[in-house]
Amino acid sequence: MHTISELWEKQCKTIDFNHTKKNILIYISDDSQIVCSVIEKNLKENGFTTEVFTTIEKLVDRIKIKKPDVILLDFYFEESTSLEFIQNYAQSIPIICMSTTENPDDLNLIFNNQIVDFIPKPIHSDILCLKINNFTRRIEQMKDFETIQVFIDSLLYTIEIRDIYTRGHSERVSCISEHIAKYISLDEQQVQIIKRGALLHDIGKVGVRDSVLLKAGSLSNEEFAEIKNHTVFGYNTCINLNSFHPYLSIIRSHHEKLDGSGYPDGLKGSEIPIEVQIVSIADVFDALTSKRVYRDALSLETAFKILFEEYKKGFWDVEIINALRSLSEKKTI
Ligand SMILES: [Fe+2]
Repeated sequence: MHTISELWEKQCKTIDFNHTKKNILIYISDDSQIVCSVIEKNLKENGFTTEVFTTIEKLVDRIKIKKPDVILLDFYFEESTSLEFIQNYAQSIPIICMSTTENPDDLNLIFNNQIVDFIPKPIHSDILCLKINNFTRRIEQMKDFETIQVFIDSLLYTIEIRDIYTRGHSERVSCISEHIAKYISLDEQQVQIIKRGALLHDIGKVGVRDSVLLKAGSLSNEEFAEIKNHTVFGYNTCINLNSFHPYLSIIRSHHEKLDGSGYPDGLKGSEIPIEVQIVSIADVFDALTSKRVYRDALSLETAFKILFEEYKKGFWDVEIINALRSLSEKKTI
């Protein structure tokens, strides 16, 4: 059995992580060949790949064949400005605008069109490199994040293909949790942590043997302990991955209950973060309303009856259950 860190390391060997500057393609477009050459020399010396276009037409033709990672674009061309180009392309390609202008109307036009940055002319090489480096760092982080997302998806897939009865469970818990979080007006950062954390909540099940995870009959105490250990196993294996840190409490504590009767730590009340409480209730709700090897899916009415009974026992926060019921009545989930 591999830990998630080991699987991640293995995955890294198969992924192209060479998001170095050489892989960042920058188009430079300015009607002055001299300006283009100076910028190109500067960027090439700093390891970037560049192409130069002295007219907007040539730039547009090239983009039809290959899109760059970013365009360094002059605002004033001989007979016009690049405003129309910016309006057409700024949504799909990052544009850093360059200009001598100090005219507030022009600056307003430029900044109203979602450019990623602005470099005043004449261009200082230090400022140019600083801005490009900052921008490329953001691209690299996004690419790494996408890679991590692909890795998470493949891990979840390996968990879910093992058990047809829980297939799609993590996706559904994520979707339900996200709706609850938005309904009770948590901030966007919390919503994102809940959404992704819910996708990962059962990731520790990679550490549970098939003979236990897929067993149809009743479990021995030892087997039940192995199932329960997916919380700690998931936590311990994800703790070395910085990108997973925001989700650790959901991974470890999604089987805790407000009265302290849950596992693995017997946390009570406010010791259980709201993000975790939301995922826990979404997890139980999805389990109740899904078909299991030992029973059919329960009706919504029965599922809410059980959840409210469990609230009375002290397991859950009633505000979260009420939010879930409202969303269910509106058929949002
Ligand atoms: Fe779980």
